[in-house]
Amino acid sequence: MAHPGGEPALLLRGHGSETSALHEERLGAVVQALRETGAAAVVDLGCGSGSLLLRLAGDAQFERITGVDTSAVALETARSRLAEAGSEGRVTLAHGSLTDLPPAIDGFDAATLVETIEHIDPGTLSQVERALFGALRPRAVVVTTPNADYNVLYGMVPGERRHADHRFEWGRARFARWATGVAERHGYTVDLRGVGPADALHGSPTQLALFRRAEELA
Ligand SMILES: C[S@@+](CC[C@H](N)C(=O)[O-])C[C@H]1O[C@@H](n2cnc3c(N)ncnc32)[C@H](O)[C@@H]1O
Repeated sequence: MAHPGGEPALLLRGHGSETSALHEERLGAVVQALRETGAAAVVDLGCGSGSLLLRLAGDAQFERITGVDTSAVALETARSRLAEAGSEGRVTLAHGSLTDLPPAIDGFDAATLVETIEHIDPGTLSQVERALFGALRPRAVVVTTPNADYNVLYGMVPGERRHADHRFEWGRARFARWATGVAERHGYTVDLRGVGPADALHGSPTQLALFRRAEELA
């Protein structure tokens, strides 16, 4: 995908490198969150063309790495990029959907969903929640999604979305409500963070939730 988590207003103004810098920062924040959990086995759900997988493959902490995506094209790109980096053997790629996880996706310490939930029909989010937090129950889950409160700083009008394929974009209060609800329903704690330059009024362009299974922290 050309513009993961795309910030189209920036791109339209020719600030593509800023967008890419934000994605780099976002991936760094996800890796940092994973490091805090000590996870060795990680599944990246909605892995796209493999940007996070490439980072994980270059880090000895991560011993078992799998990427899942509905897009065969994205998976093929991920495969080529991993091969080019000499990391193909470190990563398993699987075609599948968040709403219907492949049976092989089990036994992972952590799952990541980077700029992916907003691509899902909001009507199926509860299905994803049950499959991931209810059935799979990894020790940790890291979710990132655009912060709609920040969109005004991209010159966007209310209700406008950063990418045509986004089914929704949430502000900080809405994301916090969803994340705390998920955590309470499934026995997790959640730590909410901003990624990217923080504006006093609108927060950061990306929001990140680090969920940890509560019993692991007791
Ligand atoms: C914006 S891209 C993010 C890719 C990657 N996580 C990254 O940040 O570089 C969103 C990805 O979610 C995938 N996707 C959308 N719906 C999905 C679903 N139901 N299950 C799994 N992946 C999905 C898309 O194919 C796409 O690769």
